[in-house]
Order: sequence, then C-alpha cells, then structure tokens
Amino acid sequence: MTTPSLLILPGDGIGPEVMSQVRRIIDWFGDKRGLAFDVSEDLVGGAAYDVHGTPLTDETMERAQAADAVLLGAVGGPKYDDLDFSVKPERGLLRLRKEMDLYANLRPAQCFDALADFSSLKRDVVAGLDIVIVRELTSGIYFGEPRGIFQEGNERVGINTQRYTESEIERVARSAFELARRRSNRVCSMEKANVMESGILWREVVQKVHDEDYPDVELSHMYADAGAMQLCRWPKQFDVIVTDNLFGDLLSDAAAMLTGSLGMLPSASIGAPMANGRPKALYEPVHGSAPDIAGQGKANPIACILSFAMALRYSFDQGDEAERLEAAVEKVLADGARTADLLGEEGKTPVSTTVMGDLVLEALDSSL
Ligand code: NAD
Ligand code: IPM
Ligand code: MN
Repeated sequence: MTTPSLLILPGDGIGPEVMSQVRRIIDWFGDKRGLAFDVSEDLVGGAAYDVHGTPLTDETMERAQAADAVLLGAVGGPKYDDLDFSVKPERGLLRLRKEMDLYANLRPAQCFDALADFSSLKRDVVAGLDIVIVRELTSGIYFGEPRGIFQEGNERVGINTQRYTESEIERVARSAFELARRRSNRVCSMEKANVMESGILWREVVQKVHDEDYPDVELSHMYADAGAMQLCRWPKQFDVIVTDNLFGDLLSDAAAMLTGSLGMLPSASIGAPMANGRPKALYEPVHGSAPDIAGQGKANPIACILSFAMALRYSFDQGDEAERLEAAVEKVLADGARTADLLGEEGKTPVSTTVMGDLVLEALDSSL
C-alpha cells in the first residue's frame, strides 16, 4: 500500500503556530505507531496572497484535490482587510471547500470534564456535553447567485442569495443520519421554515430522507433562532444538529463556548469518496487566525490537534489512534495545563502553545 498523503496548509496568524504542534504529533505517530504519512506543505490565504497575489493557486488546488487529506490552520487577518473581495484570504478557503465539494462539515462540541468550569455557562449545563453540528458547507447563502453590490437608482444594494437544491439538502441530511446512528441516534434539523422558502424545502427533504431511509433515527425540527436559545439553555438535549451553511457557522461558534474556548473546537469537512475509497476531506479548527494573539505563543493548539484526530478517524480508518490522541489531550487538561484562553481561575500561569504541544506529546508517550 502506498503511504497516504497529507497536505498541510498552515495559513495565517495563529494558523502556523498551532500547526507546528500538529506537525510534531504527526511525526510522533510515524515514529511510535508506524503511521507514516507523506506530508507536504503549501500556502493558503494571506500567506499565499503575499507570494502569488492570490489566496489559493491552481497548483495548490490540484494538490489538495489529489491529497488523501488536507489539514488547514486558519486564514485571514487585518493586513488583508482592504484587499479586493475576490482575493481576500477567506476566498482561498471557500474555494477549497467548494471545488473539493466538501458538503458535510462536522463540528463536534465536547466539554472535557476538566473544563466544565471554564464555560461561560454553569457547570451543570455543560458537564459531559458531546454534540456534533453538521453544517452544510458548499451551498446556501455563501455561494448562491445573484450576489454582489449593485447600483440601484441613487444608492447601492448588497445582495446574497440563499439557495438550496433538494439533492444538496438530501446528501447532508444523510451524513447527519449516518453519524447519529453511530452516536445516540438523534438528529435535530434547524432552519427557519417559518420565514424562508429554502427552510420549507430543507424541512421537507430532511423529513423525507428520514422517513424513507432512517426511520430508526429520532428526528426533530427546530427554528434556528430557537435552536440558538436551546443551545445555551440546555445543550445536552441535542446529539446531532444538521443545519445550513450560515446557521451552522453561527451555531458552531456559540457551541464553542460550551466547551470553554473557541480554541478547543476541531472540524472535519467531508465530501464524496475518492477512487481509493477515502472521502475527500479537509480538517481544520473552527477558530480563525486570531490576530489579537498571533505571534505571541499564546494560541491554544488543541482545536488543530483534535482536527488531526478527526483525520485519523475519518480519512485513515485509525479510530483507535484518534482515541489515543483525544485521551492524551484529555489527560493534559485533567493535569491542569491551560493556555491563556482557558484561564478563568486565579493564580494560574498559562502555558504557551509549544508547551501545550510538549505536554500532549508526553501524554502520548505515556499511553504506550
Ligand atoms: P477568531 O476565531 O480568529 O478569534 C476570535 C477570538 O477567539 C479572538 O479573541 C481569538 O484570540 C480567540 N481565539 C481563537 N482561536 C484561538 C486559539 N486557538 N487559542 C486562543 N484563542 C483563540 O475570529 P475573528 O477574530 O472573528 O477572525 C479573525 C480572522 O480569522 C478573520 O480574518 C476571519 O475571517 C478569519 N477566520 C478564519 C477562519 C478559518 O480559517 N477557518 C475561521 C474564522 C475566522
Ligand atoms: C469558519 C469561518 C469561515 C466561514 C470563513 C473564514 C470563510 O468563519 O470556518 O467558520 O464563514 O465559513
Ligand atoms: Mn466561522
């Protein structure tokens, strides 16, 4: 069997900082667990713009299409705020998602016991939380046409279009139902069918897919605004939430705070299977480039580390090794190590990004 290829795109801001810890962890799995990866690195986002004048070159796009999995840090930053919209760093990431057709974005929000007091919500509300938001990632208002800023009479109008086809809804619904079957078997679908036609279609299609092929899964529907409220009120009522691109973006950032920090949330963006049977996939933390702390060694690398754990599970069929890595992270947190974003208690000194990486590697060593 050929060595699986892993394309690493560190990106901007804290992206390269957190990714350098993941590189060490990838090497550890190669050295200690015999899991060899053919790792290569390339530019995306502002880093690519600085060199090539575009946030994603065609060559990098081709390499991503050919890779067995892509691991991305984060893109964006104030340096690029004034660039033309078409070459903004975020366009590079959106192009990757769209052209790789990564329609199902799995965003787990899990509250580690050691962090139950670090959420902005009460311990009881978050302790033991383990939910997954399945965000549709390649359609909806992010990509719908018409879009743009147009002159209309004597003023301008900004337009984006929410658009979903039945097949787009159906395939992401299937991903959610399949995932729920491997978990607690419950799916809550969120839209705004009370005000949006795309929401009416969303609800109908999700229900139809359920009735035809997943009647064993418990399905409920909720308006997305009420869903946001319920996520804060009693998040443990959920198992899998399936929702559109924009609602999923908002709800997953909100869910991050149930876990203690945005620096904790990994994600997997999954598409259709490739010829070798592996799904097209890109793994990335939910957080961004965090310009406010970039370059200071403060970033929490756990979201990116756990994204690699998701790659082990979903792309490389190494569920046991993914669990080993997740357990190592859990141990480090249980032992009390905290990056600055996780510090609520008085008198604690935060550890740096690199020290957090050191500690995870030590915990991995002790798992052998
Ligand atoms: P952000 O996620 O970068 O930061 C929000 C807050 O969370 C900041 O205070 C930041 O310091 C903190 N934070 C985020 N990740 C952290 C980590 N790992 N450790 C410690 N603290 C962390 O969101 P933003 O400030 O709204 O956006 C900044 C830039 O990132 C923008 O250009 C935005 O478009 C981009 N962005 C990129 C992605 C991505 O690449 N997937 C995701 C979100 C935002
Ligand atoms: C995310 C980010 C992206 C999004 C941006 C950077 C394009 O917020 O991955 O959550 O809106 O999808
Ligand atoms: Mn987001």
